[in-house]
Amino acid sequence: MAAPVEDAFRRLFKLYKRKQPLVELSGVLDFSRLEVNGSGAKVHPAKLSHSSVSDQDIQSAGLQPISKWKAYGLENYPGFIFISNPFLPGCQHHWVKQCLKLYPQKPNVCNLDMHMASEETSDLWGKSQEQLRHKGSRKKESRSLLEKLRWVTLGYHYNWNTKSYSSDHHSLFPTDLAVLSQHVAAACGFSHFKAEAGILNYYYFDSSLGIHVDESELDFSQPLLSFSFGHSAIFLLGGLKREETPLPMFIHSGDIMVMSGISRLVHHAVPRILPCPDGSALPYCLTLSLSEGFPIGSSIIDLCSKEDWDVCASYLCESRINMTIRQVLGAGQTFSTQPKQETYPCKDCEGSQQQDSEDTKKLTDSS
Ligand code: SIN
Repeated sequence: MAAPVEDAFRRLFKLYKRKQPLVELSGVLDFSRLEVNGSGAKVHPAKLSHSSVSDQDIQSAGLQPISKWKAYGLENYPGFIFISNPFLPGCQHHWVKQCLKLYPQKPNVCNLDMHMASEETSDLWGKSQEQLRHKGSRKKESRSLLEKLRWVTLGYHYNWNTKSYSSDHHSLFPTDLAVLSQHVAAACGFSHFKAEAGILNYYYFDSSLGIHVDESELDFSQPLLSFSFGHSAIFLLGGLKREETPLPMFIHSGDIMVMSGISRLVHHAVPRILPCPDGSALPYCLTLSLSEGFPIGSSIIDLCSKEDWDVCASYLCESRINMTIRQVLGAGQTFSTQPKQETYPCKDCEGSQQQDSEDTKKLTDSS
């Protein structure tokens, strides 16, 4: 294979991926600490549509009223919106539990299906929960199946081989996640957004997601939504061309990013996952419980039992989960109206080296 071309994005990706010597993080934009913005990026409040979703509906998805969201845009990225953790205390637990207990279940598809029999991947939670509960006392090498999970696809299942979606590989998109996504999209001015496909990525401290553009959807007029839980990450937001130097920013647990307009098609990557700077096992916002009086009965949020949360918390001590939600088809569009996509044979669809690890949408582990 020819050596990959060195460009501005790749240079920064390698810099932030490097663990030794540790890279200086003071130039990484932190939307949760804008008062010490050392990145030089020009940040402004994002315009939201406050009346698009009622406070009651937004709360039922586990979110604060839109009027309380801290949402920002960036001068050079029209269509990019960063919402700094708008979740109500304790409500992230529901989404973490869904990502670990429910969404990996069949008929959804995950990386383990690529080389394991369906009986073996049929109940990852059930097969992993005891191991995760006793993680402290077990041998390091005995990782549970959940800890081997790297991606799950929802709705129209993304085909990593052909880099496309198709009408014949589809399962029902989870209703709760569709509602959450619709509310967030509506608040950002996209009242007709339909959640049709999801890619969930499961990261460890040594994982990274290579430089890519999300361009397999057939309609780019709708935004890409990204929800993050667990440990923080460094995210690189680039331009339409790889030669443009990307902007590094932190993504913390609960943060939501919306990529639309020109920013829907920019290069981006996740070079690094970071432990909590104060040494705690979990980010503070994940240690909070649901407020008394949260209307669980009329909400799409389930109560996450202590038993379930213990498993999730043990998992999250070393990891990060990201869900990107997409609309695949434009209004009235069908797959048949599209020209057939070129296909690229993929050497390994399981999640290790697909090509050079900096140039793949797929998550890779460096160890
Ligand atoms: C992320 O993990 O924050 C980004 C995921 C993606 O770009 O697909």
